[in-house]
Amino acid sequence: MQDQEQRQCPTQGYLEAFKHFATEAIHTGQEPEQWNSMAVVPPISLSTTFKQHGPGEHAGYEYSRSGNPTRNCLEKAVAALDGAKYCLAYASGLAATLNIAHLLKAGDQIICTSDVYGGTNRYFRRIAAEMGLKVIFVDCSDLKCLEAAITPETKLVWIETPTNPTLTVIDIQGCAEIVHKHQDLILAVDNTFMSAYFQRPLALGADICMYSATKYMNGHSDVVMGLVSVNCEKLYERLKFLQNALGAIPSPFDCYLCNRGLKTLALRMKQHFHNALAVAMFLERDPRVDKVLFPGLPSHAQYEITQRQCTGVPGMVTFYIKGSLEHAKTFLKSLKVSVLLLRCLLYSGISSTYDGLNLH
Ligand SMILES: Cc1ncc(COP(=O)(O)O)c(C=O)c1O
Repeated sequence: MQDQEQRQCPTQGYLEAFKHFATEAIHTGQEPEQWNSMAVVPPISLSTTFKQHGPGEHAGYEYSRSGNPTRNCLEKAVAALDGAKYCLAYASGLAATLNIAHLLKAGDQIICTSDVYGGTNRYFRRIAAEMGLKVIFVDCSDLKCLEAAITPETKLVWIETPTNPTLTVIDIQGCAEIVHKHQDLILAVDNTFMSAYFQRPLALGADICMYSATKYMNGHSDVVMGLVSVNCEKLYERLKFLQNALGAIPSPFDCYLCNRGLKTLALRMKQHFHNALAVAMFLERDPRVDKVLFPGLPSHAQYEITQRQCTGVPGMVTFYIKGSLEHAKTFLKSLKVSVLLLRCLLYSGISSTYDGLNLH
């Protein structure tokens, strides 16, 4: 029975896995030769300041906000995993979003896809907007809507794919083609849910690939962090300037942990896919479930796009329970294993809006 189901709903048919991914995760940026000690595991460099041979003469580091050896190892590893030239690490995913928004100036417009992580929505709507940025929310899974919304003031298009919580998949290449018809317009992709293992937005034409590394990239629920990868040198230099000027950098210890987490990313994501597919298929068969949203199911509206732009599907599953709010609450209260799951289900199963929910 299980084999038959796997054939009906396979883990095959996706974009080919990125070559040498697991090897890069273990070795890139970790070269022992960079340390006098030849340490195989990058040391945690807690020093806030670094000795200079003379005023302004240093061996690459001067002050830990501007650059830190442990952070540097992580940034190199992530750049390799994203197929990118550069990466920058931040104190949180939202700190990364804030830094990206600082590429813009008052009067510029951001187009943000309509279903987006609640904290991103809150930042754009309640903070960026008050600082003079114009923010509009558009369903970017409909490329015609995106194209129609762009004006000369638009400087940033922000998409998240799959979206949190409705798991809508957005065609990154399609968005990039539209965005790049306009000079100086940047496409940023929140790649948190896919992770670098399943999706490379830069290879699909995006300018910025951003993560809440708090999720899959670190993968152990013990670090809050943001990551941003880019290929364009000019964009990197500006973001590097902002990273230092705004100061929301992660601690060396967190960089060490996240770097360590990356080494099992490939294994973890494969298992997430396997498990989530089994859960999604189980739920789809259950008569008490109204609808299952999982991009790895052929019933998903963007299954074909997912197969084209991703090497697999991560562990997020959204579903609607038949009945009332009381039925959903009873289901949630009856869960025995995971409180984290509870939160995800509250987002996706009970409420279609964030209003009234406690966001982080
Ligand atoms: C898709 C997505 N983007 C961004 C964030 C914000 O990241 P952080 O919590 O690391 O600030 C989150 C957090 O849940 C998220 O789910």
